[in-house]
Amino acid sequence: MADAVLISGGAGFIGSALARHLVAAGIGVTVLDNVSPQIHSAGSGRETATAELRDLVRFVEGDVRDRAAWDAAYDGQQVVVHLAAETGTGQSMYEVARYCDVNVTGTAHLLDLLANSTHSVRRVVVASSRSIYGEGRYVDSAGVAHHPPARDRAAMLSGRFDPVGPGGEALVATATDEGSRIHPSSIYGITKSTQEQMVLVGCAALGVDATALRYQNVYGPGQSLSNPYTGILSIFTSLIQRGADINVFEDGLESRDFVYIDDVVEATARAVRCDIGGQHVYNVGTGVPLTVLEVVETLGCVLGRPASYAVSGDFRAGDIRHNWADTGRLEAELGFTPRTGFRQGVERFAAWAEGFDPVSPDGYRRSLDEMRERKLMA
Ligand SMILES: NC(=O)c1ccc[n+]([C@@H]2O[C@H](COP(=O)([O-])OP(=O)(O)OC[C@H]3O[C@@H](n4cnc5c(N)ncnc54)[C@H](O)[C@@H]3O)[C@@H](O)[C@H]2O)c1
Repeated sequence: MADAVLISGGAGFIGSALARHLVAAGIGVTVLDNVSPQIHSAGSGRETATAELRDLVRFVEGDVRDRAAWDAAYDGQQVVVHLAAETGTGQSMYEVARYCDVNVTGTAHLLDLLANSTHSVRRVVVASSRSIYGEGRYVDSAGVAHHPPARDRAAMLSGRFDPVGPGGEALVATATDEGSRIHPSSIYGITKSTQEQMVLVGCAALGVDATALRYQNVYGPGQSLSNPYTGILSIFTSLIQRGADINVFEDGLESRDFVYIDDVVEATARAVRCDIGGQHVYNVGTGVPLTVLEVVETLGCVLGRPASYAVSGDFRAGDIRHNWADTGRLEAELGFTPRTGFRQGVERFAAWAEGFDPVSPDGYRRSLDEMRERKLMA
């Protein structure tokens, strides 16, 4: 059981919920966060939560790329939960240096600190991501597993969005387990994979236990409502509330595994408390795929206002077709499977988001224009 936990990125969506959970359990929490404007700007829905958090924890405002910020935060810590990161898949394709700098260099400073100073850290928990799998696990008609590469642009331009086998054969998506091939299809995914490997390899060499949590799509109260680069629930909610049209990419049948924030916090807290030694990776998802059209329809129902949408056939570089978690290892080793149903989670999200003025459609449109201008979206 840890008494002192440092959370980098602890003012963010997952980090702040985790911080509150650990504090309620009597654990001393330090947060290291630079309160990045992209996440925390006015209208994010996060301003009050961040102000309250400063009273609950020791708050070190600083950048993970700055060794001095880590120095100010890590003394006396037993567990470090490393969440600080840039998180937009699309944005990572044209802000490559910034994504690599924050996600990779930030992690390098943590490991440098562990290697070159006297410390009390016995475990690092790092936020990894389903994005490291790229397209997840598929099977062909003979039941043979495939891990298809990034999809072919020409096929997508002609409306064929599903990955196919090496000979063009049809494939069926299945749950992606932790043994599936790591082959990210975005710069963001590459940085998350690198972060994960740096922590697992670096900590093993230093005799520090390490756990990588490969989160699926996390949603719920507290997610940034002002960041137009990530979080389709925030973006779609804003568009529905304003009566604006939703551009549903591809054919709307692409799917994701949406996991509710409280379940992610519980899984992460179990990783913090766990006393299994060595290096471990876990998927954190529900194991249930939902198509983007199902998401739009559920949101419309919950918000009491049918969504107006157009299935456009547009697609973005870096996006994958399907991915959902095999949660068997999480259940077997950490004794937990996320169980909050999507409808229930969306109801809680919508009730929370109601009091705010979420993502401006202008910001969202601008984020798509940024990709189109660079031919990263068709
Ligand atoms: N939310 C998801 O769906 C999801 C899915 C997979 C993985 N993850 C991973 O989980 C982690 C947390 O995600 P989140 O949704 O809470 O993101 P978030 O954007 O809400 O929080 C990230 C926090 O990190 C801080 N931060 C950013 N750059 C920093 C820097 N240079 N120095 C210090 N702090 C910095 C931000 O201010 C923010 O408070 C990230 O590593 C992300 O890659 C999230």
